[in-house]
Amino acid sequence: MSTGALDVVEFLLTTSVYSDDRTLDENDLPPSFRRVFWTGAGGNASDEDGSETTDRHAGISRPLSVTTTAAREATDIDQPWSAVSDLLFTERDEFSGTLSLTQQDMAEEWFFERVDEKRLLENPTLAKYFEEHDEYDVDVGHEAARERNRPIQADRVWIDGLLEEYFDDEEDEEMLDLVDVRAPEEVETTLDDLVLTDDQENELDKIAKAIEHRDYLSQIGLREIGKLLFVGPPGTGKTSTAQALAQEMDLPFVEVKLSMITSQYLGETAKNVDKTFEVAKRLSPCILFIDEFDFVAKTRRSDEHAALKRAVNTLLKSIDNISLIEDDVLLIGATNHPDQLDDAAWRRFDEIINFPKPDEGMRADILGVITRQMDIEEFDPQLIAEATAGLTGSDLRMVLREAVLEALTEDRTTLTQNDLREAIEEFEERDNLKNMDMIEGDHDALVAGGDIGKASDGSGHSHDHDHTHDHDPDH
Ligand SMILES: Nc1ncnc2c1ncn2[C@@H]1O[C@H](COP(=O)(O)OP(=O)(O)OP(=O)(O)O)[C@@H](O)[C@H]1O
Ligand SMILES: [Mg+2]
Repeated sequence: MSTGALDVVEFLLTTSVYSDDRTLDENDLPPSFRRVFWTGAGGNASDEDGSETTDRHAGISRPLSVTTTAAREATDIDQPWSAVSDLLFTERDEFSGTLSLTQQDMAEEWFFERVDEKRLLENPTLAKYFEEHDEYDVDVGHEAARERNRPIQADRVWIDGLLEEYFDDEEDEEMLDLVDVRAPEEVETTLDDLVLTDDQENELDKIAKAIEHRDYLSQIGLREIGKLLFVGPPGTGKTSTAQALAQEMDLPFVEVKLSMITSQYLGETAKNVDKTFEVAKRLSPCILFIDEFDFVAKTRRSDEHAALKRAVNTLLKSIDNISLIEDDVLLIGATNHPDQLDDAAWRRFDEIINFPKPDEGMRADILGVITRQMDIEEFDPQLIAEATAGLTGSDLRMVLREAVLEALTEDRTTLTQNDLREAIEEFEERDNLKNMDMIEGDHDALVAGGDIGKASDGSGHSHDHDHTHDHDPDH
């Protein structure tokens, strides 16, 4: 049996069962399967009055026909037909290239013999089928599988459909500068990659529980919940944590870029802010992330353009009108400048989560995470942690990146503890330059040859500039 046969047979069987059983809907299909069949905008969302609007919106139409391309996309198997061609119950239509099952019962038996429970739990369509057929003895139920399956609202195809529906004309292009929507499948950071303080973990646990039990909270009338403010210096993991939360809970991540508010045609901004919240509600359950929240307070205080103030007031009002309990939207604000927030801004958040610079223990753990896939001789994270007081998670990432790139200049993919030490030194020099007074400061460092980010060994690699390699590294 060639590899991949199980995947392709699962796909064929799923499409066949799904085509026959009309009680199944898109949330019974694994995300990788349904995305190949999903068409059009919005999806089978319910109307305000709760009626299904299946006919007006496109969705997945039956019967599902499996072309070679569809099978390839769904299973990630390059040659889906060769994977199953020697099985007795499969067939390919030479003309249309469609794959199908000639004998579904044989396919079922074949598949059932080879599948394990864990895998069946990932496929509600088949879980239901095997549960309903007595000849198969399964512990995995349809309900459990469906519960686990990610809702279609979290799929990229669904999100794109919705955005298209909302922002189809030219004028709305600006709108998409203001908001960025990411599907959980596109978020790469996971909570496992982040080193959190006990405090942070407790708060996140609390909010995860609140989300899980929001019906109960609504029932007992607890509504002021689900607005978090992440406070801390740059590079301490605020954005990453919000994203990881989206990934962990399978929620779309909607990011509002406040700084874009000013660059827009101001007359439109208030309207766009409104729309952003509307989108978040339509995408719900989702996470709405508002970065640089201090921007809000700043505009309220200064004598800004009236239209800008209006936009910001709309934003505050929209925040008041959105709720985790009623709209299934978790709001997360983030700021580097808590001191600049006024009362009006503070008041809107029910939990403040502190993102401090990591202490030594955390730094060692962060180093452990960053270097998980790296080869480092004599690696002692504890020693590196001791030598990096004051650095954030993002700084440590930069240090490691530098060490890796340096080693590559010598064609090494195995690092040494010493590479790390040198990278730290270089980072500190760079940091000094960053803090230097560019007017009154040390002019020597600013003229040509005094390369920003110059390494102690003179190899002169800067981190965030496009650097030209016009001199040889001297090692
Ligand atoms: N506690 C941490 N554990 C693991 N990685 C971290 C941690 N803090 C920061 N990082 C890493 O540093 C990088 C930058 O973090 P992130 O963008 O989340 O910071 P931020 O707090 O949002 O910064 P800013 O205020 O500048 O927006 C990410 O790659 C992240 O993985
Ligand atoms: Mg950030």
